[in-house]
Amino acid sequence: MMKPSSAALVWAFASLQSLASALTVAEINGNKFISPYSGQTVTNVTGLLIARGPNGVWIRSTTPDDDRATSEAIYVFGTVTSTAVVGAIISLDGKVTEYRSANTYLYLTEITSPKNVKVLSSGNEVIPLVLGEGELQPPTVQYTALDGGDIYAVPNGVNNISAVNPVLEPTKYGLDFWESLSGELVTIKKPTVTKQPNSYGDTWVVGDWKATGRNSQGGLTMSDKDSNPEAIIIGSPLDGTKNPTTTKMGDQLEQITGIVTQTFGFYYILPLTKVTVSAAASASVAPSTLKSQGNCKGVTVGSYNVENLAPTSSHMSKVAGHIVTYMNSPDLLFIQEVQDGSGATDGDNIVSANLTLATLATAIKTAGGPTYEFVEVAPASPNVDGGAPGGNIRQAYLYRPDFVSLYKPNQGGGNDKAVVLPGAKKNDPPYLSFNPGRIEPASDAWTSSRKPLVAAWIAKGASNPFYTVNVHFTSKGGGTSLHGDVRPPINGGVERRNQQANVTASFIAEILALYKGAAVIAAGDFNEFEFVKPMKTFNEITKMKDLDVVVKTPLENRYTYAYDMNSQALDHMMVSRSISCHVDTRFEHLHLNSWAAFKDQVSDHDPSLGMFNLCG
Ligand SMILES: *[C@@H]1O[C@H](CO)[C@@H](O)[C@H](O)[C@H]1NC(C)=O
Ligand SMILES: *[C@@H]1O[C@H](CO)[C@@H](O)[C@H](O)[C@H]1NC(C)=O
Ligand SMILES: *[C@@H]1O[C@H](CO)[C@@H](O)[C@H](O)[C@H]1NC(C)=O
Ligand SMILES: *[C@@H]1O[C@H](CO)[C@@H](O)[C@H](O)[C@H]1NC(C)=O
Repeated sequence: MMKPSSAALVWAFASLQSLASALTVAEINGNKFISPYSGQTVTNVTGLLIARGPNGVWIRSTTPDDDRATSEAIYVFGTVTSTAVVGAIISLDGKVTEYRSANTYLYLTEITSPKNVKVLSSGNEVIPLVLGEGELQPPTVQYTALDGGDIYAVPNGVNNISAVNPVLEPTKYGLDFWESLSGELVTIKKPTVTKQPNSYGDTWVVGDWKATGRNSQGGLTMSDKDSNPEAIIIGSPLDGTKNPTTTKMGDQLEQITGIVTQTFGFYYILPLTKVTVSAAASASVAPSTLKSQGNCKGVTVGSYNVENLAPTSSHMSKVAGHIVTYMNSPDLLFIQEVQDGSGATDGDNIVSANLTLATLATAIKTAGGPTYEFVEVAPASPNVDGGAPGGNIRQAYLYRPDFVSLYKPNQGGGNDKAVVLPGAKKNDPPYLSFNPGRIEPASDAWTSSRKPLVAAWIAKGASNPFYTVNVHFTSKGGGTSLHGDVRPPINGGVERRNQQANVTASFIAEILALYKGAAVIAAGDFNEFEFVKPMKTFNEITKMKDLDVVVKTPLENRYTYAYDMNSQALDHMMVSRSISCHVDTRFEHLHLNSWAAFKDQVSDHDPSLGMFNLCG
């Protein structure tokens, strides 16, 4: 046996001391994320019972300190005698435990295996803390000191909060704020829903406090270096009822009182009773003001991720309705997530989306729209481009043959690499070896991912072609929670998207090298935000501009998708100088889906629509 060192003896003595004299809840929590007493047994911890849950109770210290960083409340996990009701002051022994259900989540500090529970008094008043009052202002910009000011910085996953265990700064950082209230009973006045709930009814809200990025519908739009830590998610009610799953962005809820906790990778508030709507928001969206001029002076170009569209999709006619009614049947439409003619049926060797696209064109006509033609390049074989097995999602174009047509068409195949070729004569514009074609289909940037669909077009009345690239970059799957342990959080697929952006941009740069004044539009689901590395790489190589920047879309209106607490822009239209500098350039997002309740959502993305002079 090893002889104990003097340090170990001091520690053993200190821990005996802590066993002897009762600790306060604040001392147990400490002023960091991880308790200084983690793993130790504590005795005679005293607190007011502020709430009861199915598996334990929450107590609040009867001897608070005046340090904002130390929470005065804690969860006691385990059976606590039913004579200890809300309003009782109780004392108990137990073990300080840090719990999490996945290793990318933050820990919850709790007392487990409660013993010797004594009810010291009953009928004491339980007063919730009111968020947004006094010092209880949720920080609105940063999540933790460990993000270095940019939660989407690359590289990410540089630190774990649980390892660094920084001292909480609840006035500066959102996670520190919520951690400093862990276990507390709080009230949210005037909650506004910032996103449709998940299927369990878990609902993101922002309350009656200062918030940044509030959009016109009541959601919170993220912007560069501000991802809205002031929002909080409301979880399952402690009384066993269920939250509604029918709420939506902008709905006003009745005041919520509940317990702050950490679960499923997020800080949550578990309400005492289910949330109820006090005033439902209107999710009605006006049709776009942009209408085709029928010639190259005003060509309308839309983009829409239609979420796994197959010939038999129940949302087929609704997608068509959106295109006709809200997008005014654009001259050219970039679509993403088109499945093959058999949908997500695997093993049938069907990869062509002819049937899907023909069905969509028919549905558009049925909805009162014009005649569309379509082009795509199907994958060379099944299941090589990612997405649902057998679905073979890809990008495609729908176009109005009366206003735009392919320039020197030459249908490419799944493995054909489109090359930019100089015009035959000195002033002839460049053309594509395959039109439509795919960009570098053999590059490992696209393993299990969608290859960009490139095409060259000529608009009615134009003297020169314009060029389009329809993208659907790798998703953010595999990322970690903005509230998680890993900092900055893992932005799933970011390096892959960066490579994809580089390959796509390098192709576009070839067009622009041959034809400086070329009109190029790259649009679709980039699965990335304008201020994050892949988009910066794209901009650096192409010198193209995001249309939100060009038309100065207000920051809070730059979104096409609602995810967790944030309204965010995953979809973009990037344009070359001849479009970005033209006075007639217009651009809009149509929030048809991010505002809607789940049952009314047609796709998970919003479409966008631009109008350009493409006369060349
Ligand atoms: C437990 O703490 C309470 C005060 O919270 C005190 O009155 C009581 O004497 C303590 N009991 C023991 C056994 O230390
Ligand atoms: C963070 O924690 C995870 C899970 O335990 C671990 O895989 C990862 O290596 C840690 N990261 C750092 C930077 O220590
Ligand atoms: C798709 O339809 C086009 C005509 O619209 C036809 O030329 C082509 O052969 C079809 N492709 C497949 C794989 O069915
Ligand atoms: C694009 O990729 C090339 C080749 O890997 C690399 O040399 C270049 O630095 C990259 N460009 C940017 C802006 O990342």
